[in-house]
Amino acid sequence: MIVTVVRSRESECYMAESPRILLVEDSTVVRTLLSQRLEKQGMQVTQAENGREGLTAALSNTFDLIISDVDMPVMDGFTLCREIKKNPATRRLPVIILSSHDTEGDIDQGFQVGASAYISKSSAPNELNAAIKKVLESYRIHRSHLVLVVDDSLTVRGMVKNSLEKAGFRVTTAGDGKEALDHIATALPDLILSDIDMPVMNGIEFCKAVQNIPDYTGIPFVVMSANGDRSIMRRMLSQGAASYLVKPFNLEQLVITVEKLLSHHILLMLKDKQRLEAEQRLFLAGITSLITALEARDHYTRGHSESVADLVCKMAQHMGMDETDIESLSTAARLHDIGKIGIPDSILLKPGRLTDDEFSIIKSHPTVGNRILQVIPSMRDLLPVILHHHERFDGKGYPDGLRGKKIPLWARMTAVADTYDALTSDRPYRKGMPRDKALNIISEVRGSQLCPDSVDVFLEIIEKNGAGQHAAAAMQRTVEA
Ligand SMILES: [Fe+2]
Repeated sequence: MIVTVVRSRESECYMAESPRILLVEDSTVVRTLLSQRLEKQGMQVTQAENGREGLTAALSNTFDLIISDVDMPVMDGFTLCREIKKNPATRRLPVIILSSHDTEGDIDQGFQVGASAYISKSSAPNELNAAIKKVLESYRIHRSHLVLVVDDSLTVRGMVKNSLEKAGFRVTTAGDGKEALDHIATALPDLILSDIDMPVMNGIEFCKAVQNIPDYTGIPFVVMSANGDRSIMRRMLSQGAASYLVKPFNLEQLVITVEKLLSHHILLMLKDKQRLEAEQRLFLAGITSLITALEARDHYTRGHSESVADLVCKMAQHMGMDETDIESLSTAARLHDIGKIGIPDSILLKPGRLTDDEFSIIKSHPTVGNRILQVIPSMRDLLPVILHHHERFDGKGYPDGLRGKKIPLWARMTAVADTYDALTSDRPYRKGMPRDKALNIISEVRGSQLCPDSVDVFLEIIEKNGAGQHAAAAMQRTVEA
């Protein structure tokens, strides 16, 4: 017999080029005619006269599909299907019910016992071939996929495993995140279904660990949790989870979610997303090098971008922003002065006061930075910070003289952190101020130069975290220089 290896990871998964069909039908005439028809189409057919004979054949041979009548002596087709789906050795074998009964109740019962398709004998000449093709293709895809189910509840693990296996998937299970990582290291799953609340390593830590390993990041991660807390769900989705199911969920819905995520189209999209993220990481690494090069020209501003990003990040966390926004804002704050790469050393590093002309050149850096980054689609959300971090709340800033809340919030927050770090760092024309003096100045310009709400948040985080470490970092930069 010629066999094709559908999947190389596990040797059990073979699909015959000519499908092996078990035909269970008590009418000799129907059985013979149907068998001849299927054989003509290149299928290998084994015949059984009733459910009991069919079950014995299924347990002792390998088939790709069972086609079964319903009304039969000894064992009917529904009982056969139920027995097939109950037995771990045969539960992944698809069954097509072929019956002369086609009421809604009969069809419902067929699907309830686990049939993959229900065909009425009267429509078989037109529909059977298409159904066979569809079921075989669907099971070929399912059999080629390994799903990892992670849950500390043995009951949930068992129920989910059963449903997925009945639908044809291969399933492996683990009781917590750590055990799941060990499983992944030995057999790479195509999809992960994970609980959140688990001992040893919970679902959040597990999802993070998976996303941090480049070989694993393309695996769709589905969260299943009794925890209906939307903020945890959002956090998991922002960490890379592909979908979530809130317990108690419908097991059919679970199978459909898994099927959808493993469809070719979705897998391509996930791969595309992964590629884009890798490109963005590379791009950011390049931009960060540019910032380092920029700051290397001027030892007074060494580490300034990092400090501003660090402060803004703390403000955003204090305000309860979501993690994706915090990450974007932090990147924007790190890049806020990128436009200074276009400013000549003679102006940027000038030790004395700047002339009006020189100052207007310095003032071009937000526009220059905006121009550098605006060609990159993934940087679009960051542009308002780059362009507007020198606007003033009273409208006297640059480049656009925006006033009040017309200035984007992220830019107003960055302006506060930028001002504080500039005040506490040494400059060619003055020494860095002590923390308390800088905080007084920040409070004085609250509502004129700086956004009052952002200043309040800033003062709260300074009180909570202490700005000593930022002042110390600024001092350290000066000492190193
Ligand atoms: Fe700036």
